[in-house]
Amino acid sequence: MKYWLGIDIGTGGSRALLVDAEGVVAAGVTAPHEEMRMERPLWAEQRPENWWDAAQLAIREALAKAGAKGEQIAGVGFSGQMHGLTLLDAAGEVIRPALIWCDQRSQQQVDWINRTAGKAFVLEQTANPALTGFTAPKLLWVRDNDPRSYERVRKLLLPKDYVRYMLTGDYAGDVSDASGTALFDVMGRRWALPLVERLGLDADILPPVYESSAVVGAVSNRAAESTGLAAGTPVVAGAGDQAASAVGNGIVETGLVSCTIGTSGVVFAHMDQAAYDPGGRVHTFCHAAPGKWHVMGVTQGAGLSLQWFRNQLGQDAVARAAQEGGDAYEILMAEAAHAPAGSQGLYWLPYLMGERTPHLDAAARGGWIGLTASHTRADLIRSLIEGVSYSLKDCLEIVESLGVGVEAVRASGGGAKSPFWRSILAGVFSKPIATLQTQEGSAYGAALLAMVGSGRFDSVEEACQATIRERERISPDPDLTAVYEPGHKLYQSLYPALQASFPRM
Ligand code: XUL
Repeated sequence: MKYWLGIDIGTGGSRALLVDAEGVVAAGVTAPHEEMRMERPLWAEQRPENWWDAAQLAIREALAKAGAKGEQIAGVGFSGQMHGLTLLDAAGEVIRPALIWCDQRSQQQVDWINRTAGKAFVLEQTANPALTGFTAPKLLWVRDNDPRSYERVRKLLLPKDYVRYMLTGDYAGDVSDASGTALFDVMGRRWALPLVERLGLDADILPPVYESSAVVGAVSNRAAESTGLAAGTPVVAGAGDQAASAVGNGIVETGLVSCTIGTSGVVFAHMDQAAYDPGGRVHTFCHAAPGKWHVMGVTQGAGLSLQWFRNQLGQDAVARAAQEGGDAYEILMAEAAHAPAGSQGLYWLPYLMGERTPHLDAAARGGWIGLTASHTRADLIRSLIEGVSYSLKDCLEIVESLGVGVEAVRASGGGAKSPFWRSILAGVFSKPIATLQTQEGSAYGAALLAMVGSGRFDSVEEACQATIRERERISPDPDLTAVYEPGHKLYQSLYPALQASFPRM
């Protein structure tokens, strides 16, 4: 029996997923990462070595769980959290902890890029504005604030590309993940060298980039020993987690839209021809299908909002889950279900790590608005899920304004596993929400890319057609829509009212 391995380097953990030749999942294991280091508000770092440790553990355990030998793996694919700045020295060693996607410390560097290269030139070169979430401003922050590290930089890799480097020994990147660096020519699917030069950066630190399903290396002898894979197993370039998740959700043709609720939240649409929002509020990036693009709106604090709540205000649920062998998030969701729709007029702003879509504001802050003495903890949790869903609706509205017709939305990611959250999402979006038979999102997409690279399927589109089936579709409940339509309008009025105060906090 042959298997393909998809590896997703997420924020919370690294997942290894084995699928068979028909795309049926044989085993999946997630090894958690260390907590992000958040030394100051809006800073977020992780140790790349920790991603590699977690990935090795997840691979070994997934092989054991499926009872599979390394020789049975026909190909390996990757997905990973995007934008994270992983810096290597001349010996290929990690120089410093990575500034990851949600780190917002680089507004000064974004301003510098706009002054030095010109906003219009950046847009013309990369199809997107430079944002604090993207990689180049993070690199420039290191230049400005940690010059000793900067001097040692010989390679810049994105998170999954670092893990692949540890697995194969080769430096490589892919077009979808590179799109989020602010140094990539998204239309031409190559590094934006004129911009790189104008910013005074060294193009040699950038790895070669490939289409996502291209084979770019093979498992090394050393990594074979530590993972249980066979040396020489082909490894493909893979994709940023959102493009990979879209492949795993079958979003490879026009008219299909997905919504992924992980630590971040994303509304994603496929595009045959690249189009971009003149305001830059949604990202236009290369898709993981060769010659295709996608557009996506990103809210920074989706699952993160609930994770923050669990850690800071829900420790009793954590203790109960440990005692009863359950899941703290499920306990919190069940509590939230006791609150009425609209949470008695309580609103959550999910801007815990600033916000991208629609505000592009690194200084935005989160919080509850509308608290009264009669609100309960159930209202707090429900409002949090509603607030994240409103923020995702902001993303959906901009995607629709680009002319993407949306008949239904395919939901995936940790948050979408909850039927309660999916029903709120359907009500807020006023659209049917579909779930798939395989709800593995990005790790599944990574496995499908490996299947294409190793010749099991001829194209990404064919792989999706052969393996992806809808499981369930729920329609919006009119009673919920009646609450959430005006609720979303009120939510939208809160950010403008507070915007000027945020930078002073
Ligand atoms: C996408 C983004 C996040 C991260 C983490 O632009 O920043 O989705 O990839 O999941």
